[in-house]
Amino acid sequence: MDEIKKAIIPVAGLGTRFLPLSKSVPKELWPLVDKPVVQYIIEEAKDSGIKEIIFVIKPRDKALANYYKNSPELEKILKDRKKDRILEDVKKLDDLLGEISFSYVAQNKPLGDGHAVLQAAKKVKKDEPVACMFADDVVYSKVPCILQLGKIFKTCQKPVIAMHKLPKEKLHSYGIAEVEKIANRHYKIRKIIEKPEPEKAPSDLAIVGKYILSPEVFSYLKKAKTGFKGEIILAETFERMLKDGKLIYGYEFEGKWLECGNKLEWLKSNMFLGLNHPQFGQELRKFLKESI
Ligand code: UTP
Repeated sequence: MDEIKKAIIPVAGLGTRFLPLSKSVPKELWPLVDKPVVQYIIEEAKDSGIKEIIFVIKPRDKALANYYKNSPELEKILKDRKKDRILEDVKKLDDLLGEISFSYVAQNKPLGDGHAVLQAAKKVKKDEPVACMFADDVVYSKVPCILQLGKIFKTCQKPVIAMHKLPKEKLHSYGIAEVEKIANRHYKIRKIIEKPEPEKAPSDLAIVGKYILSPEVFSYLKKAKTGFKGEIILAETFERMLKDGKLIYGYEFEGKWLECGNKLEWLKSNMFLGLNHPQFGQELRKFLKESI
């Protein structure tokens, strides 16, 4: 019951903060230095022991599947042209597919992140906990973030939400948790307040889009009603559960949160990873010094 083997990655959102760019290239396929953002999420899942990923996609959207499908013709061309280094990179994608299986379910309309997660319910067993990873939240860490959350789930068997401390001036853009500390980095969540004014924020702990969902979360999602924006939002479902006295834990993960959900944060995340990149880092640092 407590080994997390499946992850849901919803990628059916409109990505309005990236329009008009996201009209043709969905934000999960945008590059983060030299890989698409979603690749970091998939690697995190794999390194956390996940064996199966369920993507929730827009109807008929083939972009993600095209990226991950095998490409024998391309590989042959690269081999014939002796582009060994590039061939190695392309083959790494095939290797990944040998270790982890992908499946796809459609969300017919973008009716919210919670509604997207619900579309994957048919691929999850009744008593099975699953990881849920939003496609625009990358974490740079020694221990993969979802593995950190999984360890907490093992001890408590209740939903676990990733959290990260933010400076006061940023709190108004995030869901902020009211918490009771129970151990180092480990909290009981009392309430989630969406985008509070800084002086009304109940803590400095923001909700990050990585979760371990227990079967009970799906029961709540199934009966959830759309909110005032006409969407079913995961955070609102957690709030409903908390009001019913259900236990939900928060874990302040170890690592750096690299947001990729809006243009500025995506640029910053590119910079951070670029500067720390084994191949490009040194040259980029030099370039940056010269440029400012
Ligand atoms: P976001 O809150 O970032 O929404 O979704 P969004 O639509 O992608 O982007 P903005 O806010 O309009 O700029 C968090 C995660 O949930 C998925 C997104 O693809 C992202 O991975 N999502 C969101 C869905 O799959 N379906 C939805 O209806 C909404």
